Amino acid sequence: MVNIAVLGYGTVGSGVVEVINTNHDIVNKRAGEEIRIKYVLDLRDFPGDPVAEILTHDFNDILNDDEVKVVVEVMGGVEPAYTFVKKSLLAGKSVATSNKELVAAHGSELIAIAKEHAANFLFEASAGGGIPIIRPLNSSITADDITEITGILNGTTNYILTKMANEGADYATVLKQAQDLGYAERNPEADVEGGDTCRKIAILTSIAFGKNLDYATIYTEGITKITAEDFKYADAMKSAIKLLGTTKNVDDKLYSFVAPVMLNETNPLAKIDDVFNGIMVHGNAVDDIMFYGRGAGKLPTASAVVSDVVDAVKHMGTNIMTIWEPEELETGDFSDAVNRFFVRVADEAGIEEKINQLFGDVQYVSADGVTGEKAFVTSDMTEGDFQKKKTELGSIINVIRVAF
Ligand code: NDP
Ligand code: HSE
Repeated sequence: MVNIAVLGYGTVGSGVVEVINTNHDIVNKRAGEEIRIKYVLDLRDFPGDPVAEILTHDFNDILNDDEVKVVVEVMGGVEPAYTFVKKSLLAGKSVATSNKELVAAHGSELIAIAKEHAANFLFEASAGGGIPIIRPLNSSITADDITEITGILNGTTNYILTKMANEGADYATVLKQAQDLGYAERNPEADVEGGDTCRKIAILTSIAFGKNLDYATIYTEGITKITAEDFKYADAMKSAIKLLGTTKNVDDKLYSFVAPVMLNETNPLAKIDDVFNGIMVHGNAVDDIMFYGRGAGKLPTASAVVSDVVDAVKHMGTNIMTIWEPEELETGDFSDAVNRFFVRVADEAGIEEKINQLFGDVQYVSADGVTGEKAFVTSDMTEGDFQKKKTELGSIINVIRVAF
C-alpha cells in the first residue's frame, strides 16, 4: 500500500479524491499498489464530507509522516505551495501538481531536487488540463528536433470566445459561467489577460527544449479587448478568434508569444471550441501532431493529476529523467518576429491613402453592420515594423494577429 496526501480540497483536489475512489480498482492495478489517501490538507473544514475524517490543517502532519510517499499539490499559487512542495521533495516524497504558477516559476529547481532525492516532481495537469502533453513531450516525441508548439491552452478563455462568437454572449456573463463551472483561476485576470496561457507555453517550451523559458519575458496579450465587431470581421474572413500560446524556431531562434489570433477555418485549431484545448507540436521527423481534450474542469484535470500519482508509485525510488535545465533558453527579440495583422482604424479623411502608404499591399475587409471604420490585413511584417507604422497610423480601434 502507498499512502498519499492531497494539499487543497477545492475543484481539482476534490476531483483527485473522487477519481481515486471511483476508479479505485483500475488505478491500483495500473500502479501495482493500493493507493490510500491518508491526509487531505485544507484551510476549511468539510462537515458531513467523508474527507473530514482524514482532514488536517497542519502541513507538518504530512511532512513528518514517513508513511506518506506521494504528495498531491492542488492548492494553487506560488506560496505556500512552493515551500510545501520543496520540503516534500527534500524529504524524499514525490509530488504531483496541477499548479502552473508554481511549475513555471520553479519547475527546473524542483525537478533537480526530486532527482537528488530519487523522487519525482510531476506536473501533467499544469498545461492542457486533462490532455496528456507533458509526458508525450518528455517520453514520446524524443526523436525530433521540435520546431513549433502552438496551442489553445486556456479553457476559460476558449469557453468565453466560443460563446461570444456563436451566441453573441456578453463577456461578463460568460466569464461568470466559466467561474461557476470551476474552469477559471481564483483571480480570473490570469485567464483573460493571458498570464495563464503564458505560463503554460513557458512550461511546454522548457520541457521541449530542455532549458528554462522565463515566462515573464514572453510577449502576452489577453482577450479583454475583443469585441462583438471583431467576431463580425472574423465571420467575414471565415476565421475564428482564438487565444494562442506559441513558440516557433525560426532560423535557429525561438520566438514565443501569447495573443488572440484570427485563425482561418481550415486551421485545425480554429475548430476547437468551448472548454477544450488543442496543442499542435511540429517535429522535424514526425511532422505535425495534435493533442485535444478538456483544458480545465474538475475530473479531466484530476485525471491528469492521478496519472502522475500512478507514475510516481510505479517509479517509487527511481527518478524519471526530465530535462529542464536552469539555464535560460536563448530567444530571439520579439520585435524581429514576423506576423500578419488585422487592423481596425477610424475612417478619417485620407485614411486609405495613409494605410496604403504605410503598409503597401493590404487586403481590405468589411463586416455586416460595422461602419465608421476601415479594416485591413497586412502582409507579413516584423512586430517592430508593425508597431512603428501602427503609431504613425493613429486612431487604431483594435489589432489582432492573423494566421492560416
Ligand atoms: P480551488 O481554489 O478550487 O482549490 C484550492 C483549494 O486549496 C481550496 O480549497 C483552498 O482553500 C485550498 N488552499 C489554498 N491555500 C491553502 C493553504 N495554504 N493550505 C491549505 N489549503 C489551501 O482551485 P482549483 O482546484 O481550481 O485549482 C487548484 C490548482 O490547479 C491551481 O493551481 C489551478 O491553477 C490548477 N488547475 C486548475 C484547473 C481547473 O480546471 N480548476 C485545471 C488545471 C489546473 P480555500 O478555498 O479555503 O482558500
Ligand atoms: N483556468 C485554467 C483554464 C485552468 O481555464 O484553462 C486549467 O489550467
